[in-house]
Amino acid sequence: MKPGYAAIFEQLTRSMEHETSLIDLFLTMVPSGSIAEIGAGHGRLVPFFSDREVFYIENDEDMVARLAERFPNIVNTIVKRSAWNTKIPTGSVAAAHFSPNAICEMQPVYFCLSEASRIVSDDGVILFTATNPLTNMPHAYTKFREVACDDYVETSHVITYPTPTHGPNWFETKITLRNMEGETTVIVSQVLPKPEYWIKIMSNMGFILELATENRSHQAADLSSSKLISYFFRKKADSEASQGPVQRVYDLIAPTYNEFSRNAKEQSTNWFKQSLKSESPPKFSRFLDLACGTGKIGAVIREYDSAAKVFGLDFSAKMVTIATNTGNFAAVACADLNDGIPLVEDGFFDYISGISFMEFIADPVKILKDIRRLLAHHGKAWITFELRTETSPTPGLPNPKTGLSFYSYTTDDVRGMIAQAGLKLNDLTTGFGYEAQLDSRHVEYIYCEVAK
Ligand SMILES: C[S@@+](CC[C@H](N)C(=O)[O-])C[C@H]1O[C@@H](n2cnc3c(N)ncnc32)[C@H](O)[C@@H]1O
Repeated sequence: MKPGYAAIFEQLTRSMEHETSLIDLFLTMVPSGSIAEIGAGHGRLVPFFSDREVFYIENDEDMVARLAERFPNIVNTIVKRSAWNTKIPTGSVAAAHFSPNAICEMQPVYFCLSEASRIVSDDGVILFTATNPLTNMPHAYTKFREVACDDYVETSHVITYPTPTHGPNWFETKITLRNMEGETTVIVSQVLPKPEYWIKIMSNMGFILELATENRSHQAADLSSSKLISYFFRKKADSEASQGPVQRVYDLIAPTYNEFSRNAKEQSTNWFKQSLKSESPPKFSRFLDLACGTGKIGAVIREYDSAAKVFGLDFSAKMVTIATNTGNFAAVACADLNDGIPLVEDGFFDYISGISFMEFIADPVKILKDIRRLLAHHGKAWITFELRTETSPTPGLPNPKTGLSFYSYTTDDVRGMIAQAGLKLNDLTTGFGYEAQLDSRHVEYIYCEVAK
């Protein structure tokens, strides 16, 4: 039998011991409470955590089997789930740990860190280690070369940086190993954002950087030169961010949103359904649903392709919980899209949807540029805009009663913005959007299909 990934990984990482003092430091920072070991693999770190309660989270069947076989005493604490959807209760662990560069392999990384930040309690810690791309060449996995594999010979080891099909955040390591039974190639694809990215997204998730160290020496890291950096983030107890009016309204109406928007939403949902009909999806297509709300669009996607991996973003935490509970999403996370789309996996998505939300966004070109960046070369996106008419409110002017402001456009405006973002316009139509409940406005939408 050819060796599987778990067996190879075990061989390759057998002599990686330099983390001992890092884990000691981590355990000192969280002296009590349970720990989530996210991406537990075949259990390389199990012996480090022997006197603590640990949940070992791992998605790969092969790895889970290997983990259970090696450590029968932890079988009850193995959570066979993905890092972005652990189903571990909110705030129930004191800390979460990702081993070196593991976070870089869990794409999209934003969703994994969002999930880790959800399950960690106030004052809890997240530790992850990531290669800093500011150095000329990433060093992750070169360690493998130094490792004496008992049964395997490394026949080739190629690092591509960046990968030709993706943007500059990526690198790929292709390792071929041979044993008596044959040859196996493992391809490890990693995304390498800069330190500022980690710090910014963790700060938005309510964490402060308590310590950044260089992995081997545990000296304070110089973020502009280090290679492998370990980041210790602590959750601030008072991390409730102040809410804007749109976020407040959607949090408020989330429980009744499906009921009250049933008729209003039909038109845009049907348009999206029709648009998908003409697509023949790639196997395991990856979707990003912007402003996913309660998950109506996610449901349409899964109806069309039950194997699709759908990732949803929305800034209403209440909407995010409802969408998560539909079971139609691989993962759903909070993000304020006014700051752009917080994902670094350029070229990752086959399809992106942004239905009924551009009317809340002050700078759509920023989002459109991000859509272009995140789409695969064959990718497509479906977006709606509010059509400007005589009754449209002044763009950006808050309604004195509700505090909400809306942005509307002419078809020429939309054509211009799409071109400015470097996207191709496949199709543009106008039609009924919704009846606004607040001021009984009849809103028309501009429906657009765009491509990279
Ligand atoms: C009308 S609902 C549409 C929901 C969903 N796309 C659908 O078609 O059913 C608008 C959604 O946009 C979200 N939203 C508005 N502004 C946002 C922003 N700046 N960042 C993220 N989400 C936003 C709201 O929270 C809400 O869930």
